[in-house]
Amino acid sequence: MHTPAHLPSASAARPALIDRFGRRIDYVRLSVTDRCDLRCNYCMPKGFTGFEEPSHWLRFDEIERVIGAFARMGVGRIRLTGGEPLLRRGLPELAARLSALPGVDDLSLSTNATQLTKHARALKAAGVSRLNVSLDSLRHERIAAIAGRDVLSEVIAGLDAAAAEGFSPVKINMVVQHGVNEDEIDAMVAWCRARGFILRLIETMPVGSTGQSAAYTDLQPIIANLAEHHGLAASAIEIGGGPARYWRSTDDGFTLGFITPISQHFCATCNRVRLSVDGTLYMCLGQNDSMPLRDLLRAGISDAELEAQLRDAIELKPERHEFREKPSQIVRFMSHTGG
Ligand code: GTP
Ligand code: 5AD
Ligand code: SF4
Repeated sequence: MHTPAHLPSASAARPALIDRFGRRIDYVRLSVTDRCDLRCNYCMPKGFTGFEEPSHWLRFDEIERVIGAFARMGVGRIRLTGGEPLLRRGLPELAARLSALPGVDDLSLSTNATQLTKHARALKAAGVSRLNVSLDSLRHERIAAIAGRDVLSEVIAGLDAAAAEGFSPVKINMVVQHGVNEDEIDAMVAWCRARGFILRLIETMPVGSTGQSAAYTDLQPIIANLAEHHGLAASAIEIGGGPARYWRSTDDGFTLGFITPISQHFCATCNRVRLSVDGTLYMCLGQNDSMPLRDLLRAGISDAELEAQLRDAIELKPERHEFREKPSQIVRFMSHTGG
């Protein structure tokens, strides 16, 4: 359809989203549910029932509008998170709708993989290209102790299904907890190396009472030790758009990533915001600044008003987290904002 010269065309590129600190926001983490079938000790408390009401969840058409608006302002990367995103009914349909939006060129998923066998094919067909899978141990009893039940076999089956569907890269997220699974890092390196997965070691963040009571491990001495023993060299490669720093073997290309929000934070290059299942936009994982969007969407806000609202929200983005200075200020659980 011809657009008169004085009207902006629906597909016209808008100025990029730049925050007060000069950071370009091009990545949205979208939490599609706050529920999960596991209870990882650093994430959600056992017996937790304080979930969002389904009537408060953004519907697919509402999500599509918000992501569409972001995409018009240069956000090309969308990551589906939760809770456990595969528990949201119809997720492959939502994925297909989002990957079809003009401007969205990287649709990825963070999952615990317990349901991945069922959904891998549909997710691939829907345009999800990259998977990050949580796996903290290779021991049945340890998984049960960390996650509340032993799902190791389901997760490995899910990873096999993902590999069979050709997902690439597949990254394994291991939250390293002192005295819990620290002694399995070498075993995880060997296992991921043999299967062609990228392993990322993650420092626990004090998000919610669970994150605050989880045993923190400083990854800096571990990085030096692993680099030496596994022949890894620091590299500037970017695999995805997140905060991991990668080390690579010159022998076989095995790649190990480190996510170190506490020992070496990465806020100066932060490129992201988070949309929770209830339609609240969180500006930082480690701060409370947020903007509620659901009521505006349901009140019939126009696309232009929505874009203006998102620009105003980006103005609220804080410079950095204060996990060290104020370790108890984030009371919401990680499952609410999706990590
Ligand atoms: P890609 O790099 O695009 O693959 O994604 P990612 O590594 O950012 O996503 P994933 O969901 O796998 O997150 C891995 C870990 O990084 C989780 O513990 C997240 O909570 C953490 N993380 C992701 N983004 C941020 C961030 O902006 N700030 C902080 N502090 N942690 C983050
Ligand atoms: N600290 C660090 N990472 C966490 N995750 C969940 N809770 C925490 C926490 N308190 C991770 C999960 C998952 C990713 C999305 O976030 O292990 O891999
Ligand atoms: Fe960005 Fe906040 Fe994460 Fe720092 S803690 S990288 S500012 S979201």
